Amino acid sequence: MTKLWGGRFQKSAESWVDEFGASIGFDQQLVMEDIEGSIAHVTMLGNQGILDSNDVEQILAGLAELKIKAEAGELEFTVANEDIHLNLEKMLTDLIGPVGGKLHTGRSRNDQVATDVHLFLKKRVNEVVELIEIFQKAIMEKAEQHVETIAPGYTHLQRAQPISFAHHLMAYFWMLERDKERFTESMKRIDILPLGAGAMAGTTFPIDREKTAQLLGFSNVYANSMDAVSDRDFIVEFLSNASLLMTHLSRFAEEIIIWSTDEFKFIELDDAFSTGSSIMPQKKNPDMAELIRGKTGRVYGNLIGLLTVLKGTPLTYNKDMQEDKEGMFDTVHTILGALKIFEGMVRTMTVNTERLHAAVHSDFSNATELADYLATKGMPFREAHEVTGKLVFTCIQKGIFLLDLPLEEMRCESELIEEDVYDVLKPHAAVSRRNSLGGTGFDQVRLQLEKAKTCLNHF
Ligand code: ARG
Repeated sequence: MTKLWGGRFQKSAESWVDEFGASIGFDQQLVMEDIEGSIAHVTMLGNQGILDSNDVEQILAGLAELKIKAEAGELEFTVANEDIHLNLEKMLTDLIGPVGGKLHTGRSRNDQVATDVHLFLKKRVNEVVELIEIFQKAIMEKAEQHVETIAPGYTHLQRAQPISFAHHLMAYFWMLERDKERFTESMKRIDILPLGAGAMAGTTFPIDREKTAQLLGFSNVYANSMDAVSDRDFIVEFLSNASLLMTHLSRFAEEIIIWSTDEFKFIELDDAFSTGSSIMPQKKNPDMAELIRGKTGRVYGNLIGLLTVLKGTPLTYNKDMQEDKEGMFDTVHTILGALKIFEGMVRTMTVNTERLHAAVHSDFSNATELADYLATKGMPFREAHEVTGKLVFTCIQKGIFLLDLPLEEMRCESELIEEDVYDVLKPHAAVSRRNSLGGTGFDQVRLQLEKAKTCLNHF
């Protein structure tokens, strides 16, 4: 088959060579964006008198037909036509004749492909932001039910201090809020139009790039045609934002997995988000959480992959850049899927409040309360820490907890300790008294939930 660019060639490559160079296998996902870009381009060419209105009408009619077919999934792409751009151009000329060849006036695949990807990411980043918010809402609603559910808080995965379970959940809300911010802010750099850069040096045709930008809904155009066709920063930025999002999801997934073990049993996942074992009948596995944790690896890989692709490429376009797409598609697919699954998992999970209650009443996570109590009574905190540590040690030896230790024994270490210490040591009191701004105190958590509500713009 003759190539659309075949004029200067004396022989054609063998099909397996074509296959290696082709991107149609994956860039067909840009079919809608490619058609949209062409519609805007040819409209602008008509407005500028570069093409006459008759030609423009025929091309627009052809593109409209291709769009309908694309929506119906009826277009058949071939490797022989290399990529989405050449496939569509060939289909257009097959449909309307040689006039279809005028569509590419003043345009190159270099500015075309960059435009397609900008259009694609603009749409997808909006979807990502929306899904993040839906997930944030699920976290917030779960948290609202558990403001007064006391749970152990951890450092080093060792019991540290009692917390409101809502406080723990809401920590993820704020991570996601920053993710949402990052994606939203990145839009400024996605929202720039490369089209009109030509192959790399601009074009001799009197095009109107501002017009094309307006038709496609871009707020800006690239100021430098060489930068326009070489820039893949916006994809790197997307992959980087996606990587950080996945880091947050993966940490949360890890906690979900730990919390669902028999050892913890802090939560139970809904059957709809769990799986069984083919051999062990009793099993209920948190596969979805594990998979999200696992898929984090491929998203990081996609980021490193693209950075590596770009690092040695001279200006401007190089075929290396065709490698920008698979990782990007995969990442879009992965994060949209992960967010959707996670939302359902959190919305439907059951929190085992009794188990959390029991956990926090059988540990030393109230030890800081005792140290603070002594410090409030005038003892230097360092000394209060030492005294409390000794009392913890006494308890460990006796196999009891601080709340079980008789007052006389406490007073052996410090005369400052009085009967009121037992109220202070209760986990509920420990939580409610942590009323510093952003702390786990119930009032603070309620305040935090109020603040969180104002972050949900889509609801
Ligand atoms: N399929 C190519 C890509 O994805 C389109 C641009 C091709 N440009 C070129 N000069 N070969 O990068």
